Amino acid sequence: MAAALDLDVVTAAEQTRRGRYRQRVMVCQSISCLAAGAQATRTAIEQATDEEGLGHDVQVVPTGCMGLCSRGPLAQVVPRGGAPTLYGDVTAEAGRQLVASLPRRAPPPPAAVTDRVLDPDMPFFACQRRFVLANAGRIDPERIEDYVAEGGYRAMQTALQSMAPDDVIEAIAASGLRGRGGAGYPTAKKWRLLAAAGGEHKYVVANGDEGDPGAFMDRTVMEDDPHRVLEGIALAAYATGADRAFLYVRAEFARAVERLDAAIRAARRHRLLGRRVLGSDFSLDVSVRIGAGAFVCGEETALMASVEGGRGTPRLRPPYPTEQGLWGAPTVINNVETLANVPGIIGRGPEAFAAIGTSASNGTKVFALAGSLVNTGLIEVPMGITLRQIVEDVGGGIAGGRAFKAAQTGGPSGGCIPAELLDTPMDYERLQALGSIMGSGGLIVMDDSVTMPEVARYFMEFCRDESCGKCVPCRAGTVQLVGLLDRICTGAGTTRDLAQLESLGQTVRETSLCGLGQTAPNPLFSTLEHFRGEYLDLLVDGDTAGGEDG
Ligand SMILES: Cc1cc2nc3c(=O)[nH]c(=O)nc-3n(C[C@H](O)[C@H](O)[C@H](O)COP(=O)(O)O)c2cc1C
Ligand code: SF4
Ligand code: FES
Repeated sequence: MAAALDLDVVTAAEQTRRGRYRQRVMVCQSISCLAAGAQATRTAIEQATDEEGLGHDVQVVPTGCMGLCSRGPLAQVVPRGGAPTLYGDVTAEAGRQLVASLPRRAPPPPAAVTDRVLDPDMPFFACQRRFVLANAGRIDPERIEDYVAEGGYRAMQTALQSMAPDDVIEAIAASGLRGRGGAGYPTAKKWRLLAAAGGEHKYVVANGDEGDPGAFMDRTVMEDDPHRVLEGIALAAYATGADRAFLYVRAEFARAVERLDAAIRAARRHRLLGRRVLGSDFSLDVSVRIGAGAFVCGEETALMASVEGGRGTPRLRPPYPTEQGLWGAPTVINNVETLANVPGIIGRGPEAFAAIGTSASNGTKVFALAGSLVNTGLIEVPMGITLRQIVEDVGGGIAGGRAFKAAQTGGPSGGCIPAELLDTPMDYERLQALGSIMGSGGLIVMDDSVTMPEVARYFMEFCRDESCGKCVPCRAGTVQLVGLLDRICTGAGTTRDLAQLESLGQTVRETSLCGLGQTAPNPLFSTLEHFRGEYLDLLVDGDTAGGEDG
């Protein structure tokens, strides 16, 4: 058996390696930048480094998402001992110019390079707090040494060497961490249930299904910092007494699967996973399970059926997974972002986490910020930040001179927030009170060119297509709701159709078997609540005078 990795030795070796270079050029190779041509940028930067004879001076590092995806491809130059400079819109040509402008060269940087510098104090960055995304843009996700050099696996080492499993659960309780998968259930409470459960085997499952339209938070964390997710899983397993863990990832996230598989192999090689982790008595077997990409498979009971190799359909709860989970054994299921928070909480202390956010919603939340904004991308903000700050400061306001219309949080299970509620603090309770939910973190901002009944129809179509068909209210109800929305959106709907829409929506909400059906009418009801006038305007026999448009 290989010797356990000495984290101090790896960190020192990595720092020596980095210290050899006068400049490090970090090039984002995450999904949005790749779509904008970041592969060519990286190649151009590497070639230019060779051609300029800078190979000994300049280290080119492929990294994960730096956040401001709408300005991609992004690259950052980090001089040894100096302040980093971030560049946006770094095309291949700009990448070559960037290398030529590195301080070793005599001429001052051309405007083509300086024009691309992004201000580190711009509100997009200044409003953020990096906890889960602490390594974003700072490490090569494919090198375990990079993760270790940033303090990775230290929390696990601390836990194994000096904390009893209960201490870990108490630390999570003190941090106030709540599940980031949607419902905000207290993580420590769930872990306590698993720790108290008996049985020969217990399981931890990381839910990386993330099927909501517009969401790419968990995918990015899995791709860009896979060891953080593994360390979170290991800490969860140690705390709860689980000996086996699965990462459930949809097949479309091929790069996440590849990276996680490679990270698991590397961690095993160094005895950070597997038998007798870091020489302790704790052992953990982790593997990736690939889903076929059904939204319903993110629901925990459907997910378990899928992991077991069956068809991914939900079942009634109770029994809850902690009582009867995978193959009948006690199981805890946590969202990827929930687990990715754990190393930081144990490593930096629960107080550091609890100090961020509001009294009932601690810490940060990662959002995939999309839609009609100037700045879009992946953001991590303190809980309790207002929607206005996200839209106007982080997002830079509405693009193209248009006005804000609404923001959809929580994807197809969530709701829309209108302009008059822009000062709503983003926390679990306040969003729920508005008929929306935090969800796992998709945040779509819409401008005034969008028609809200169309938005409701879009999400209802999504739920209809993703319904597993097991129960009638959801299977047949979503079809009928789409039919009614079709009639209304095309100007053929009547006041009777609208009344039926509301009553059927209520029935689907109250009688569906799982969360998919129970929440499918949420976008419908929240658009009706805030934009009822838009529905009335579309009715053939509507009373437009009754409109209460938001
Ligand atoms: C239709 C549906 C889809 C879901 N999709 C996800 C998902 O993609 N990722 C996720 O973490 N939770 C998802 N959930 C919530 C999970 O069932 C579960 O509550 C969550 O993984 C628990 O983790 P947490 O306590 O860390 O939030 C979904 C729920 C429903 C009803
Ligand atoms: S609510 Fe929809 S997705 Fe859930 S079990 Fe019923 S048919 Fe399937
Ligand atoms: S993908 Fe490059 S900044 Fe987000």
